[in-house]
Amino acid sequence: MKMILMTTMQNAFWILLVFSISMASCSTIPSLVGPQIGINYGEYSSNLEDSSPVIGINYGRYGSNLPPPEAIPSLVNSLSIKHVKTFDLDPRITKSFANTGITLSLCIPNDKIPSLATNLSEAESIIRNFILPYHKNTIITAISVGNEVSLLPQFSNHLVSAMVNVHKAIKRYRLHKKIKVSTTHSLAILSRRFPPSTAVFHQSIGDSVLEPLIRFLQRTNSPLMVNVYPYLAYKQSFPSIPLDFALFQPMNSPRRRRYIDPYTGVAYTNLFDIMLDSVDSAVKSLGLPEIPVVVSEIGWPTRGDPGETAANLENARVFNQRLVEHLRRRWNKVPVYIFALFDEDQKTGNAVEKHWGLLYGNGSRKYDLNFSPPI
Ligand SMILES: *[C@@H]1O[C@H](CO)[C@@H](O)[C@H](O)[C@H]1NC(C)=O
Ligand SMILES: *[C@@H]1O[C@H](CO)[C@@H](O)[C@H](O)[C@H]1NC(C)=O
Repeated sequence: MKMILMTTMQNAFWILLVFSISMASCSTIPSLVGPQIGINYGEYSSNLEDSSPVIGINYGRYGSNLPPPEAIPSLVNSLSIKHVKTFDLDPRITKSFANTGITLSLCIPNDKIPSLATNLSEAESIIRNFILPYHKNTIITAISVGNEVSLLPQFSNHLVSAMVNVHKAIKRYRLHKKIKVSTTHSLAILSRRFPPSTAVFHQSIGDSVLEPLIRFLQRTNSPLMVNVYPYLAYKQSFPSIPLDFALFQPMNSPRRRRYIDPYTGVAYTNLFDIMLDSVDSAVKSLGLPEIPVVVSEIGWPTRGDPGETAANLENARVFNQRLVEHLRRRWNKVPVYIFALFDEDQKTGNAVEKHWGLLYGNGSRKYDLNFSPPI
């Protein structure tokens, strides 16, 4: 017993140490930690019954020979997933999800943002053409105005005005209770991430973009959408973050590592919760109340460049499986959209970009996952 206790304490100390060391360099790492709304940061209700977490999936289409949109609902169903997020407004996709019970979160392309900011008619025309004809049969829950644009001045300067106009247009058609208007952020919006209680947004966008943006979300009862990649945080901080800490560690292991936030005393057993709480802290640092967060992307790649050994099938399986189990137990519920449905071989950039799918481009499963009961 004493031995176990000592091991735990040494690990706790060690991980505090390594995280402290990584802190020194994290201001130079542009996209490390992330989001979330938290009251009971990193604590779980060990005695409460499991309740179903909301698990969705991202449907990106930069792949050659992907199955046609009409084949997607049954593939999504076969994964026991009921929520899908897209990166566009393609009516063929929206139609294919009609009467399936699967919800859709859509996205307005980035290049529309500047004109949407000044032209309400443009926003109304988008809603009239891409939403009105379909919303009765397809459950549309959200529209993201652009994707990860908050650090790009050519878009971010127009972002809030564009979101306001899209919301006005949706309201004009009386759909604002059903369809939330938001936008997705990468965690690069945080300039400081560790310890999570001290996290802040980049100064260049904190007061000018995110403060009015989050106020808009609060006013319209909409969630803050953040893309959370423990894999990237792990990779960028290598070797300071232990792999099993990024992979949620097995439950009940006597050697479970913990990271303790030195300012709050909150103990964390995984990187995901740290990333979520850092977003929460950054929101508070703007003097704003908490806001519900949706994790609009999360996942683990199965392959990367040579030397990216943590990107493999087994780690991806373990990460996604334990993510779902973690979300079942998590005190503070947070919906997530796994990235992604398919491998996308036409993505450019690092090799890792092409290998985030639960499915190969041809629709067959890359590894076994058990998300049932349906979530
Ligand atoms: C505003 O958008 C409408 C609808 O798309 C378009 O017809 C009109 O030309 C736009 N106005 C300006 C000033 O761009
Ligand atoms: C799908 O693609 C994967 C990877 O290329 C391959 O291993 C698998 O055999 C393919 N399945 C079918 C049914 O073609």
